Order: sequence, then C-alpha cells, then structure tokens
Amino acid sequence: MNANIDIINHAVARQYEAFPFPDYGLFLPLRWQEGYASHSMFAHAMAREIRGSAHQRPKGGVLIAGCGDVFPSIVSHWEPRSLPIEALDLSATHLKRAKIRCWSAPSRVQFQKLNLDYPLPYARESFSHIDAYGVLHHLANPSQGLQHLSEMLAPGGTLRLMLYNRRSRDWIHQIQKIFALLQLSPYIAQDRKDALHFLEHLARECPALRERLYTLLPELKAKPTRLVDTFFHAREARLDLQHWIQAMQGADLLPLGLFDRYAELDDLPNPLYSFPTLEELDQRSRDRRFENNWELYVIKRGPVLSPQTTTLKVPRSVYLRTAPHAWFQYEETSETPWWDRQVIWQHYVKGLQGESIPFPANILHKLGEPGILRLLRIGAIWPSALPKTFAQDFALHKIHDSMDIPLIPRPIPLVKLVSCTNLLQSIILRKKRDPRLLQWIAKRLDAAQKLDPSTVRES
Ligand SMILES: C[S@@+](CC[C@H](N)C(=O)[O-])C[C@H]1O[C@@H](n2cnc3c(N)ncnc32)[C@H](O)[C@@H]1O
Repeated sequence: MNANIDIINHAVARQYEAFPFPDYGLFLPLRWQEGYASHSMFAHAMAREIRGSAHQRPKGGVLIAGCGDVFPSIVSHWEPRSLPIEALDLSATHLKRAKIRCWSAPSRVQFQKLNLDYPLPYARESFSHIDAYGVLHHLANPSQGLQHLSEMLAPGGTLRLMLYNRRSRDWIHQIQKIFALLQLSPYIAQDRKDALHFLEHLARECPALRERLYTLLPELKAKPTRLVDTFFHAREARLDLQHWIQAMQGADLLPLGLFDRYAELDDLPNPLYSFPTLEELDQRSRDRRFENNWELYVIKRGPVLSPQTTTLKVPRSVYLRTAPHAWFQYEETSETPWWDRQVIWQHYVKGLQGESIPFPANILHKLGEPGILRLLRIGAIWPSALPKTFAQDFALHKIHDSMDIPLIPRPIPLVKLVSCTNLLQSIILRKKRDPRLLQWIAKRLDAAQKLDPSTVRES
C-alpha cells in the first residue's frame, strides 16, 4: 500500500460515488449500436485489415477496465456468447448501476471492485481484448496502470484506450486551478452554483472561450456530474501523447490506429489504419486543428502462443439493429437513404466476423468517393469489402489536402470582464479569501485564452 496512491484513489472513488458518470438514466433505453467501435470484434477486425492473415486473435476473454456504469451493458450486446466478460471499477456505485443495466443477462458480465493502480488478480495474459476508455488519466500512477493492463493481455491481444488530449484541455486546467484557488468544492451546492455562473459569465464576456463553453454549457447546467467531471475532477494526470507512447513502448504495446471521430485529421492518410507520427499529432493539437481526446487501438507485441481456433460470431441481435446515427452525421454521408444505411450495417457486421463480402456497386456509387472515405475512416466500411477495382491503398487516401487552422479571438484581461470580476469578488468575500487572489486568477484566465498556454509563464 502507498499512502499517496491511496489518497488519490480515495478522492476519485468519493467523487464517482457522489457523481456517477456518465449521468444517464438507469432505465432509459440504450442505443448500444452506437458503441460499434468499442468491442473486441471491432479491434480484432481492424488488426486483420492492417496485418492481413498474419493477425491471429489469441484465446481469452474481454476485460472492461474502469468500466463505469454504462459500458458493460453496451459491450455485452456485442461480444460473442462464448467469450467471458470481466468488468472492474474502483467505484462501488458504478458497479452497482452497471449490474442493474445488465439485468436481462445477469451472469453475462462478472463484476469486481478492483484498483488499476495495483496488480490485478487475473491470470497473466488471460485476455484477448481490454477496454480502458477515459480511465488511465484518473489513476495515481497511469504508466503503472498501463503496465498492469498489458500484463493481463495475451500477445496479439488488442487494447482500446481513450486518453485525454492534454493540450486541448489546457484551458480547462486553468479554470480548474481558478476554482481550486477560490477553494470551491464540488460537494457544496453553492460552490457548484458559483462555478456555473462564472462559466456562464465567461461564455458571454470572453470571445476566446465562448465557442468552447457554449457547446458545453447546456450539459453543465443540466447535469452536476458533468460540471464536476470536467472542472472539479479529483485526479486528472496532465500527460502528453508522447508520454503515453513511451509508456506503451515500455509495456510491449504498439499503437495500431486512431479513431478520428470529429473528422479533424482529413489531411492525413486514414489514421484508423495508418497511425500518424507524433509530430503530426502534436502540431495539430497545439494549433487546435485536433481537439478530440486520443482514442487509440493498440496491440500487444509477441508471438500468439494460443490462437483462437473457433470462429467467433456476434449475437444475432446485432443484425437486427438499425445502423448507428453517428455514421451519418457527416456532410459526406448525411444524405444516405435509410435502406442503404442498413445494407452498410449488414456488411459491417459480417466484416467483424471475417466474412468479406464485396459491397454492392450501386451503394458505393451513391456514396461517392468522399462518402466512402469517410465511412472507411470511422470503421463503418472495411477496406477488404471494397471491390478489386479500387486502388490497393484507397482506404488510406486523404480527404483534404489541408485543414484550416482555427483563428482564436484575442485574450481579454480580467479587469475588462466586468461580470466575471464582480462574481469573483463576491466569491472571495463569501469564502473569506485574500482579495489579492484576483491577480493570480487574472493570470490563469489569460493563459486559458492563449493559443498555446504551455508558452505562458507565471511571474
Ligand atoms: C470517466 S469514467 C469512464 C467509464 C467508462 N470507461 C466509460 O467510458 O463510460 C472513469 C472510470 O474509471 C474508474 N476508475 C478511476 N480510477 C480507477 C482505478 N484506480 N481503478 C479502477 N477504476 C478506476 C472510475 O471509477 C470511473 O468509473
């Protein structure tokens, strides 16, 4: 046991006990097909596309590490019935809620309250896929946690990770520090209210933060959980992608692909099948062309000693779902007729199982090149399903030659943000804090508005 680790774990667990995340009604229906890229069949189909028949899936079940409250139910709809699913989390509340959501097949997922900061009690190399989405940056020792996961993964096994993009969250970090300076607590209703008011004033008065806040505010107002998770998290390790890539190398893990959910990397070869360089990603997250978090697919190095010999099939219910909404929210795909969407869906599902059935030419024709490229980039069309008439590297093609660098409005000093200043003064008074705090807050706010806050130094 390590006192520092335990203090962090305790604070994180306390937060999630009080504010389960994501805050999605326990009895609301789930559109689980939207999780089409979050299960082991997807990760292994992707690895097959990249590595060809050389890719063998090892034997072993699926681990959902830091499962949260919604994810086990989504994954259980997808995984083949023959694969055991284990789900672990630090938070008893999350585990309880996750179990309730799995009510229709109570024994499908085995739940355990475990801590990723410590070695896990499973047999080494016993999983063929691990999911740790939005988890590792909340650990006391993230690199060690990654190492623990790697030890559980069989060579040839896949890992899906979502890691915070530190640079695109720099402005959030500055606001987190402002709330910490003011000693606002997420557990005090009045403090949450003040924090929310401050963000509303900022959105109105501060053009450099307006766009970012306006997209967040409706959810921040509706769900205290979202406010706490974003601006008061008990633990957020601020690590660059470079750190994560090094940690992966040290843990025998190799990045395979990157999921470009918001179409921010259209000037690069398809990142799902050709992992961009660190420089390409770093530059784009510095100048704000890439703002999403890192959604990565990773593979464990080494020879597959015990390959999966039986053909794995997704449950039949998968075929009966309608295609994910997410596929058709892009300008290149939004006009796709309902029936074509369903055909694309059926092909996607068959591809998961290694069945490669060439796409109907008329649908490809209607989608056009940009539509096909978009669907390839988000994993809705498998490259191997394209007819032989397509160039061999078509699936890697860029969509655009370049992407615009966003223009960021000039920073405005705190003294000119009248409502923000008035509110801050009233909080300082209420909290009996030193009025000179305003100077420090002004610096933080300045940094939050700068294009690259890493260049800003405090005097
Ligand atoms: C942001 S939530 C993500 C949940 C889920 N993966 C999802 O995508 O919906 C982070 C989860 O990690 C869990 N967690 C944080 N630190 C942990 C640790 N040291 N060991 C195990 N789970 C942890 C939290 O309890 C929480 O459920």
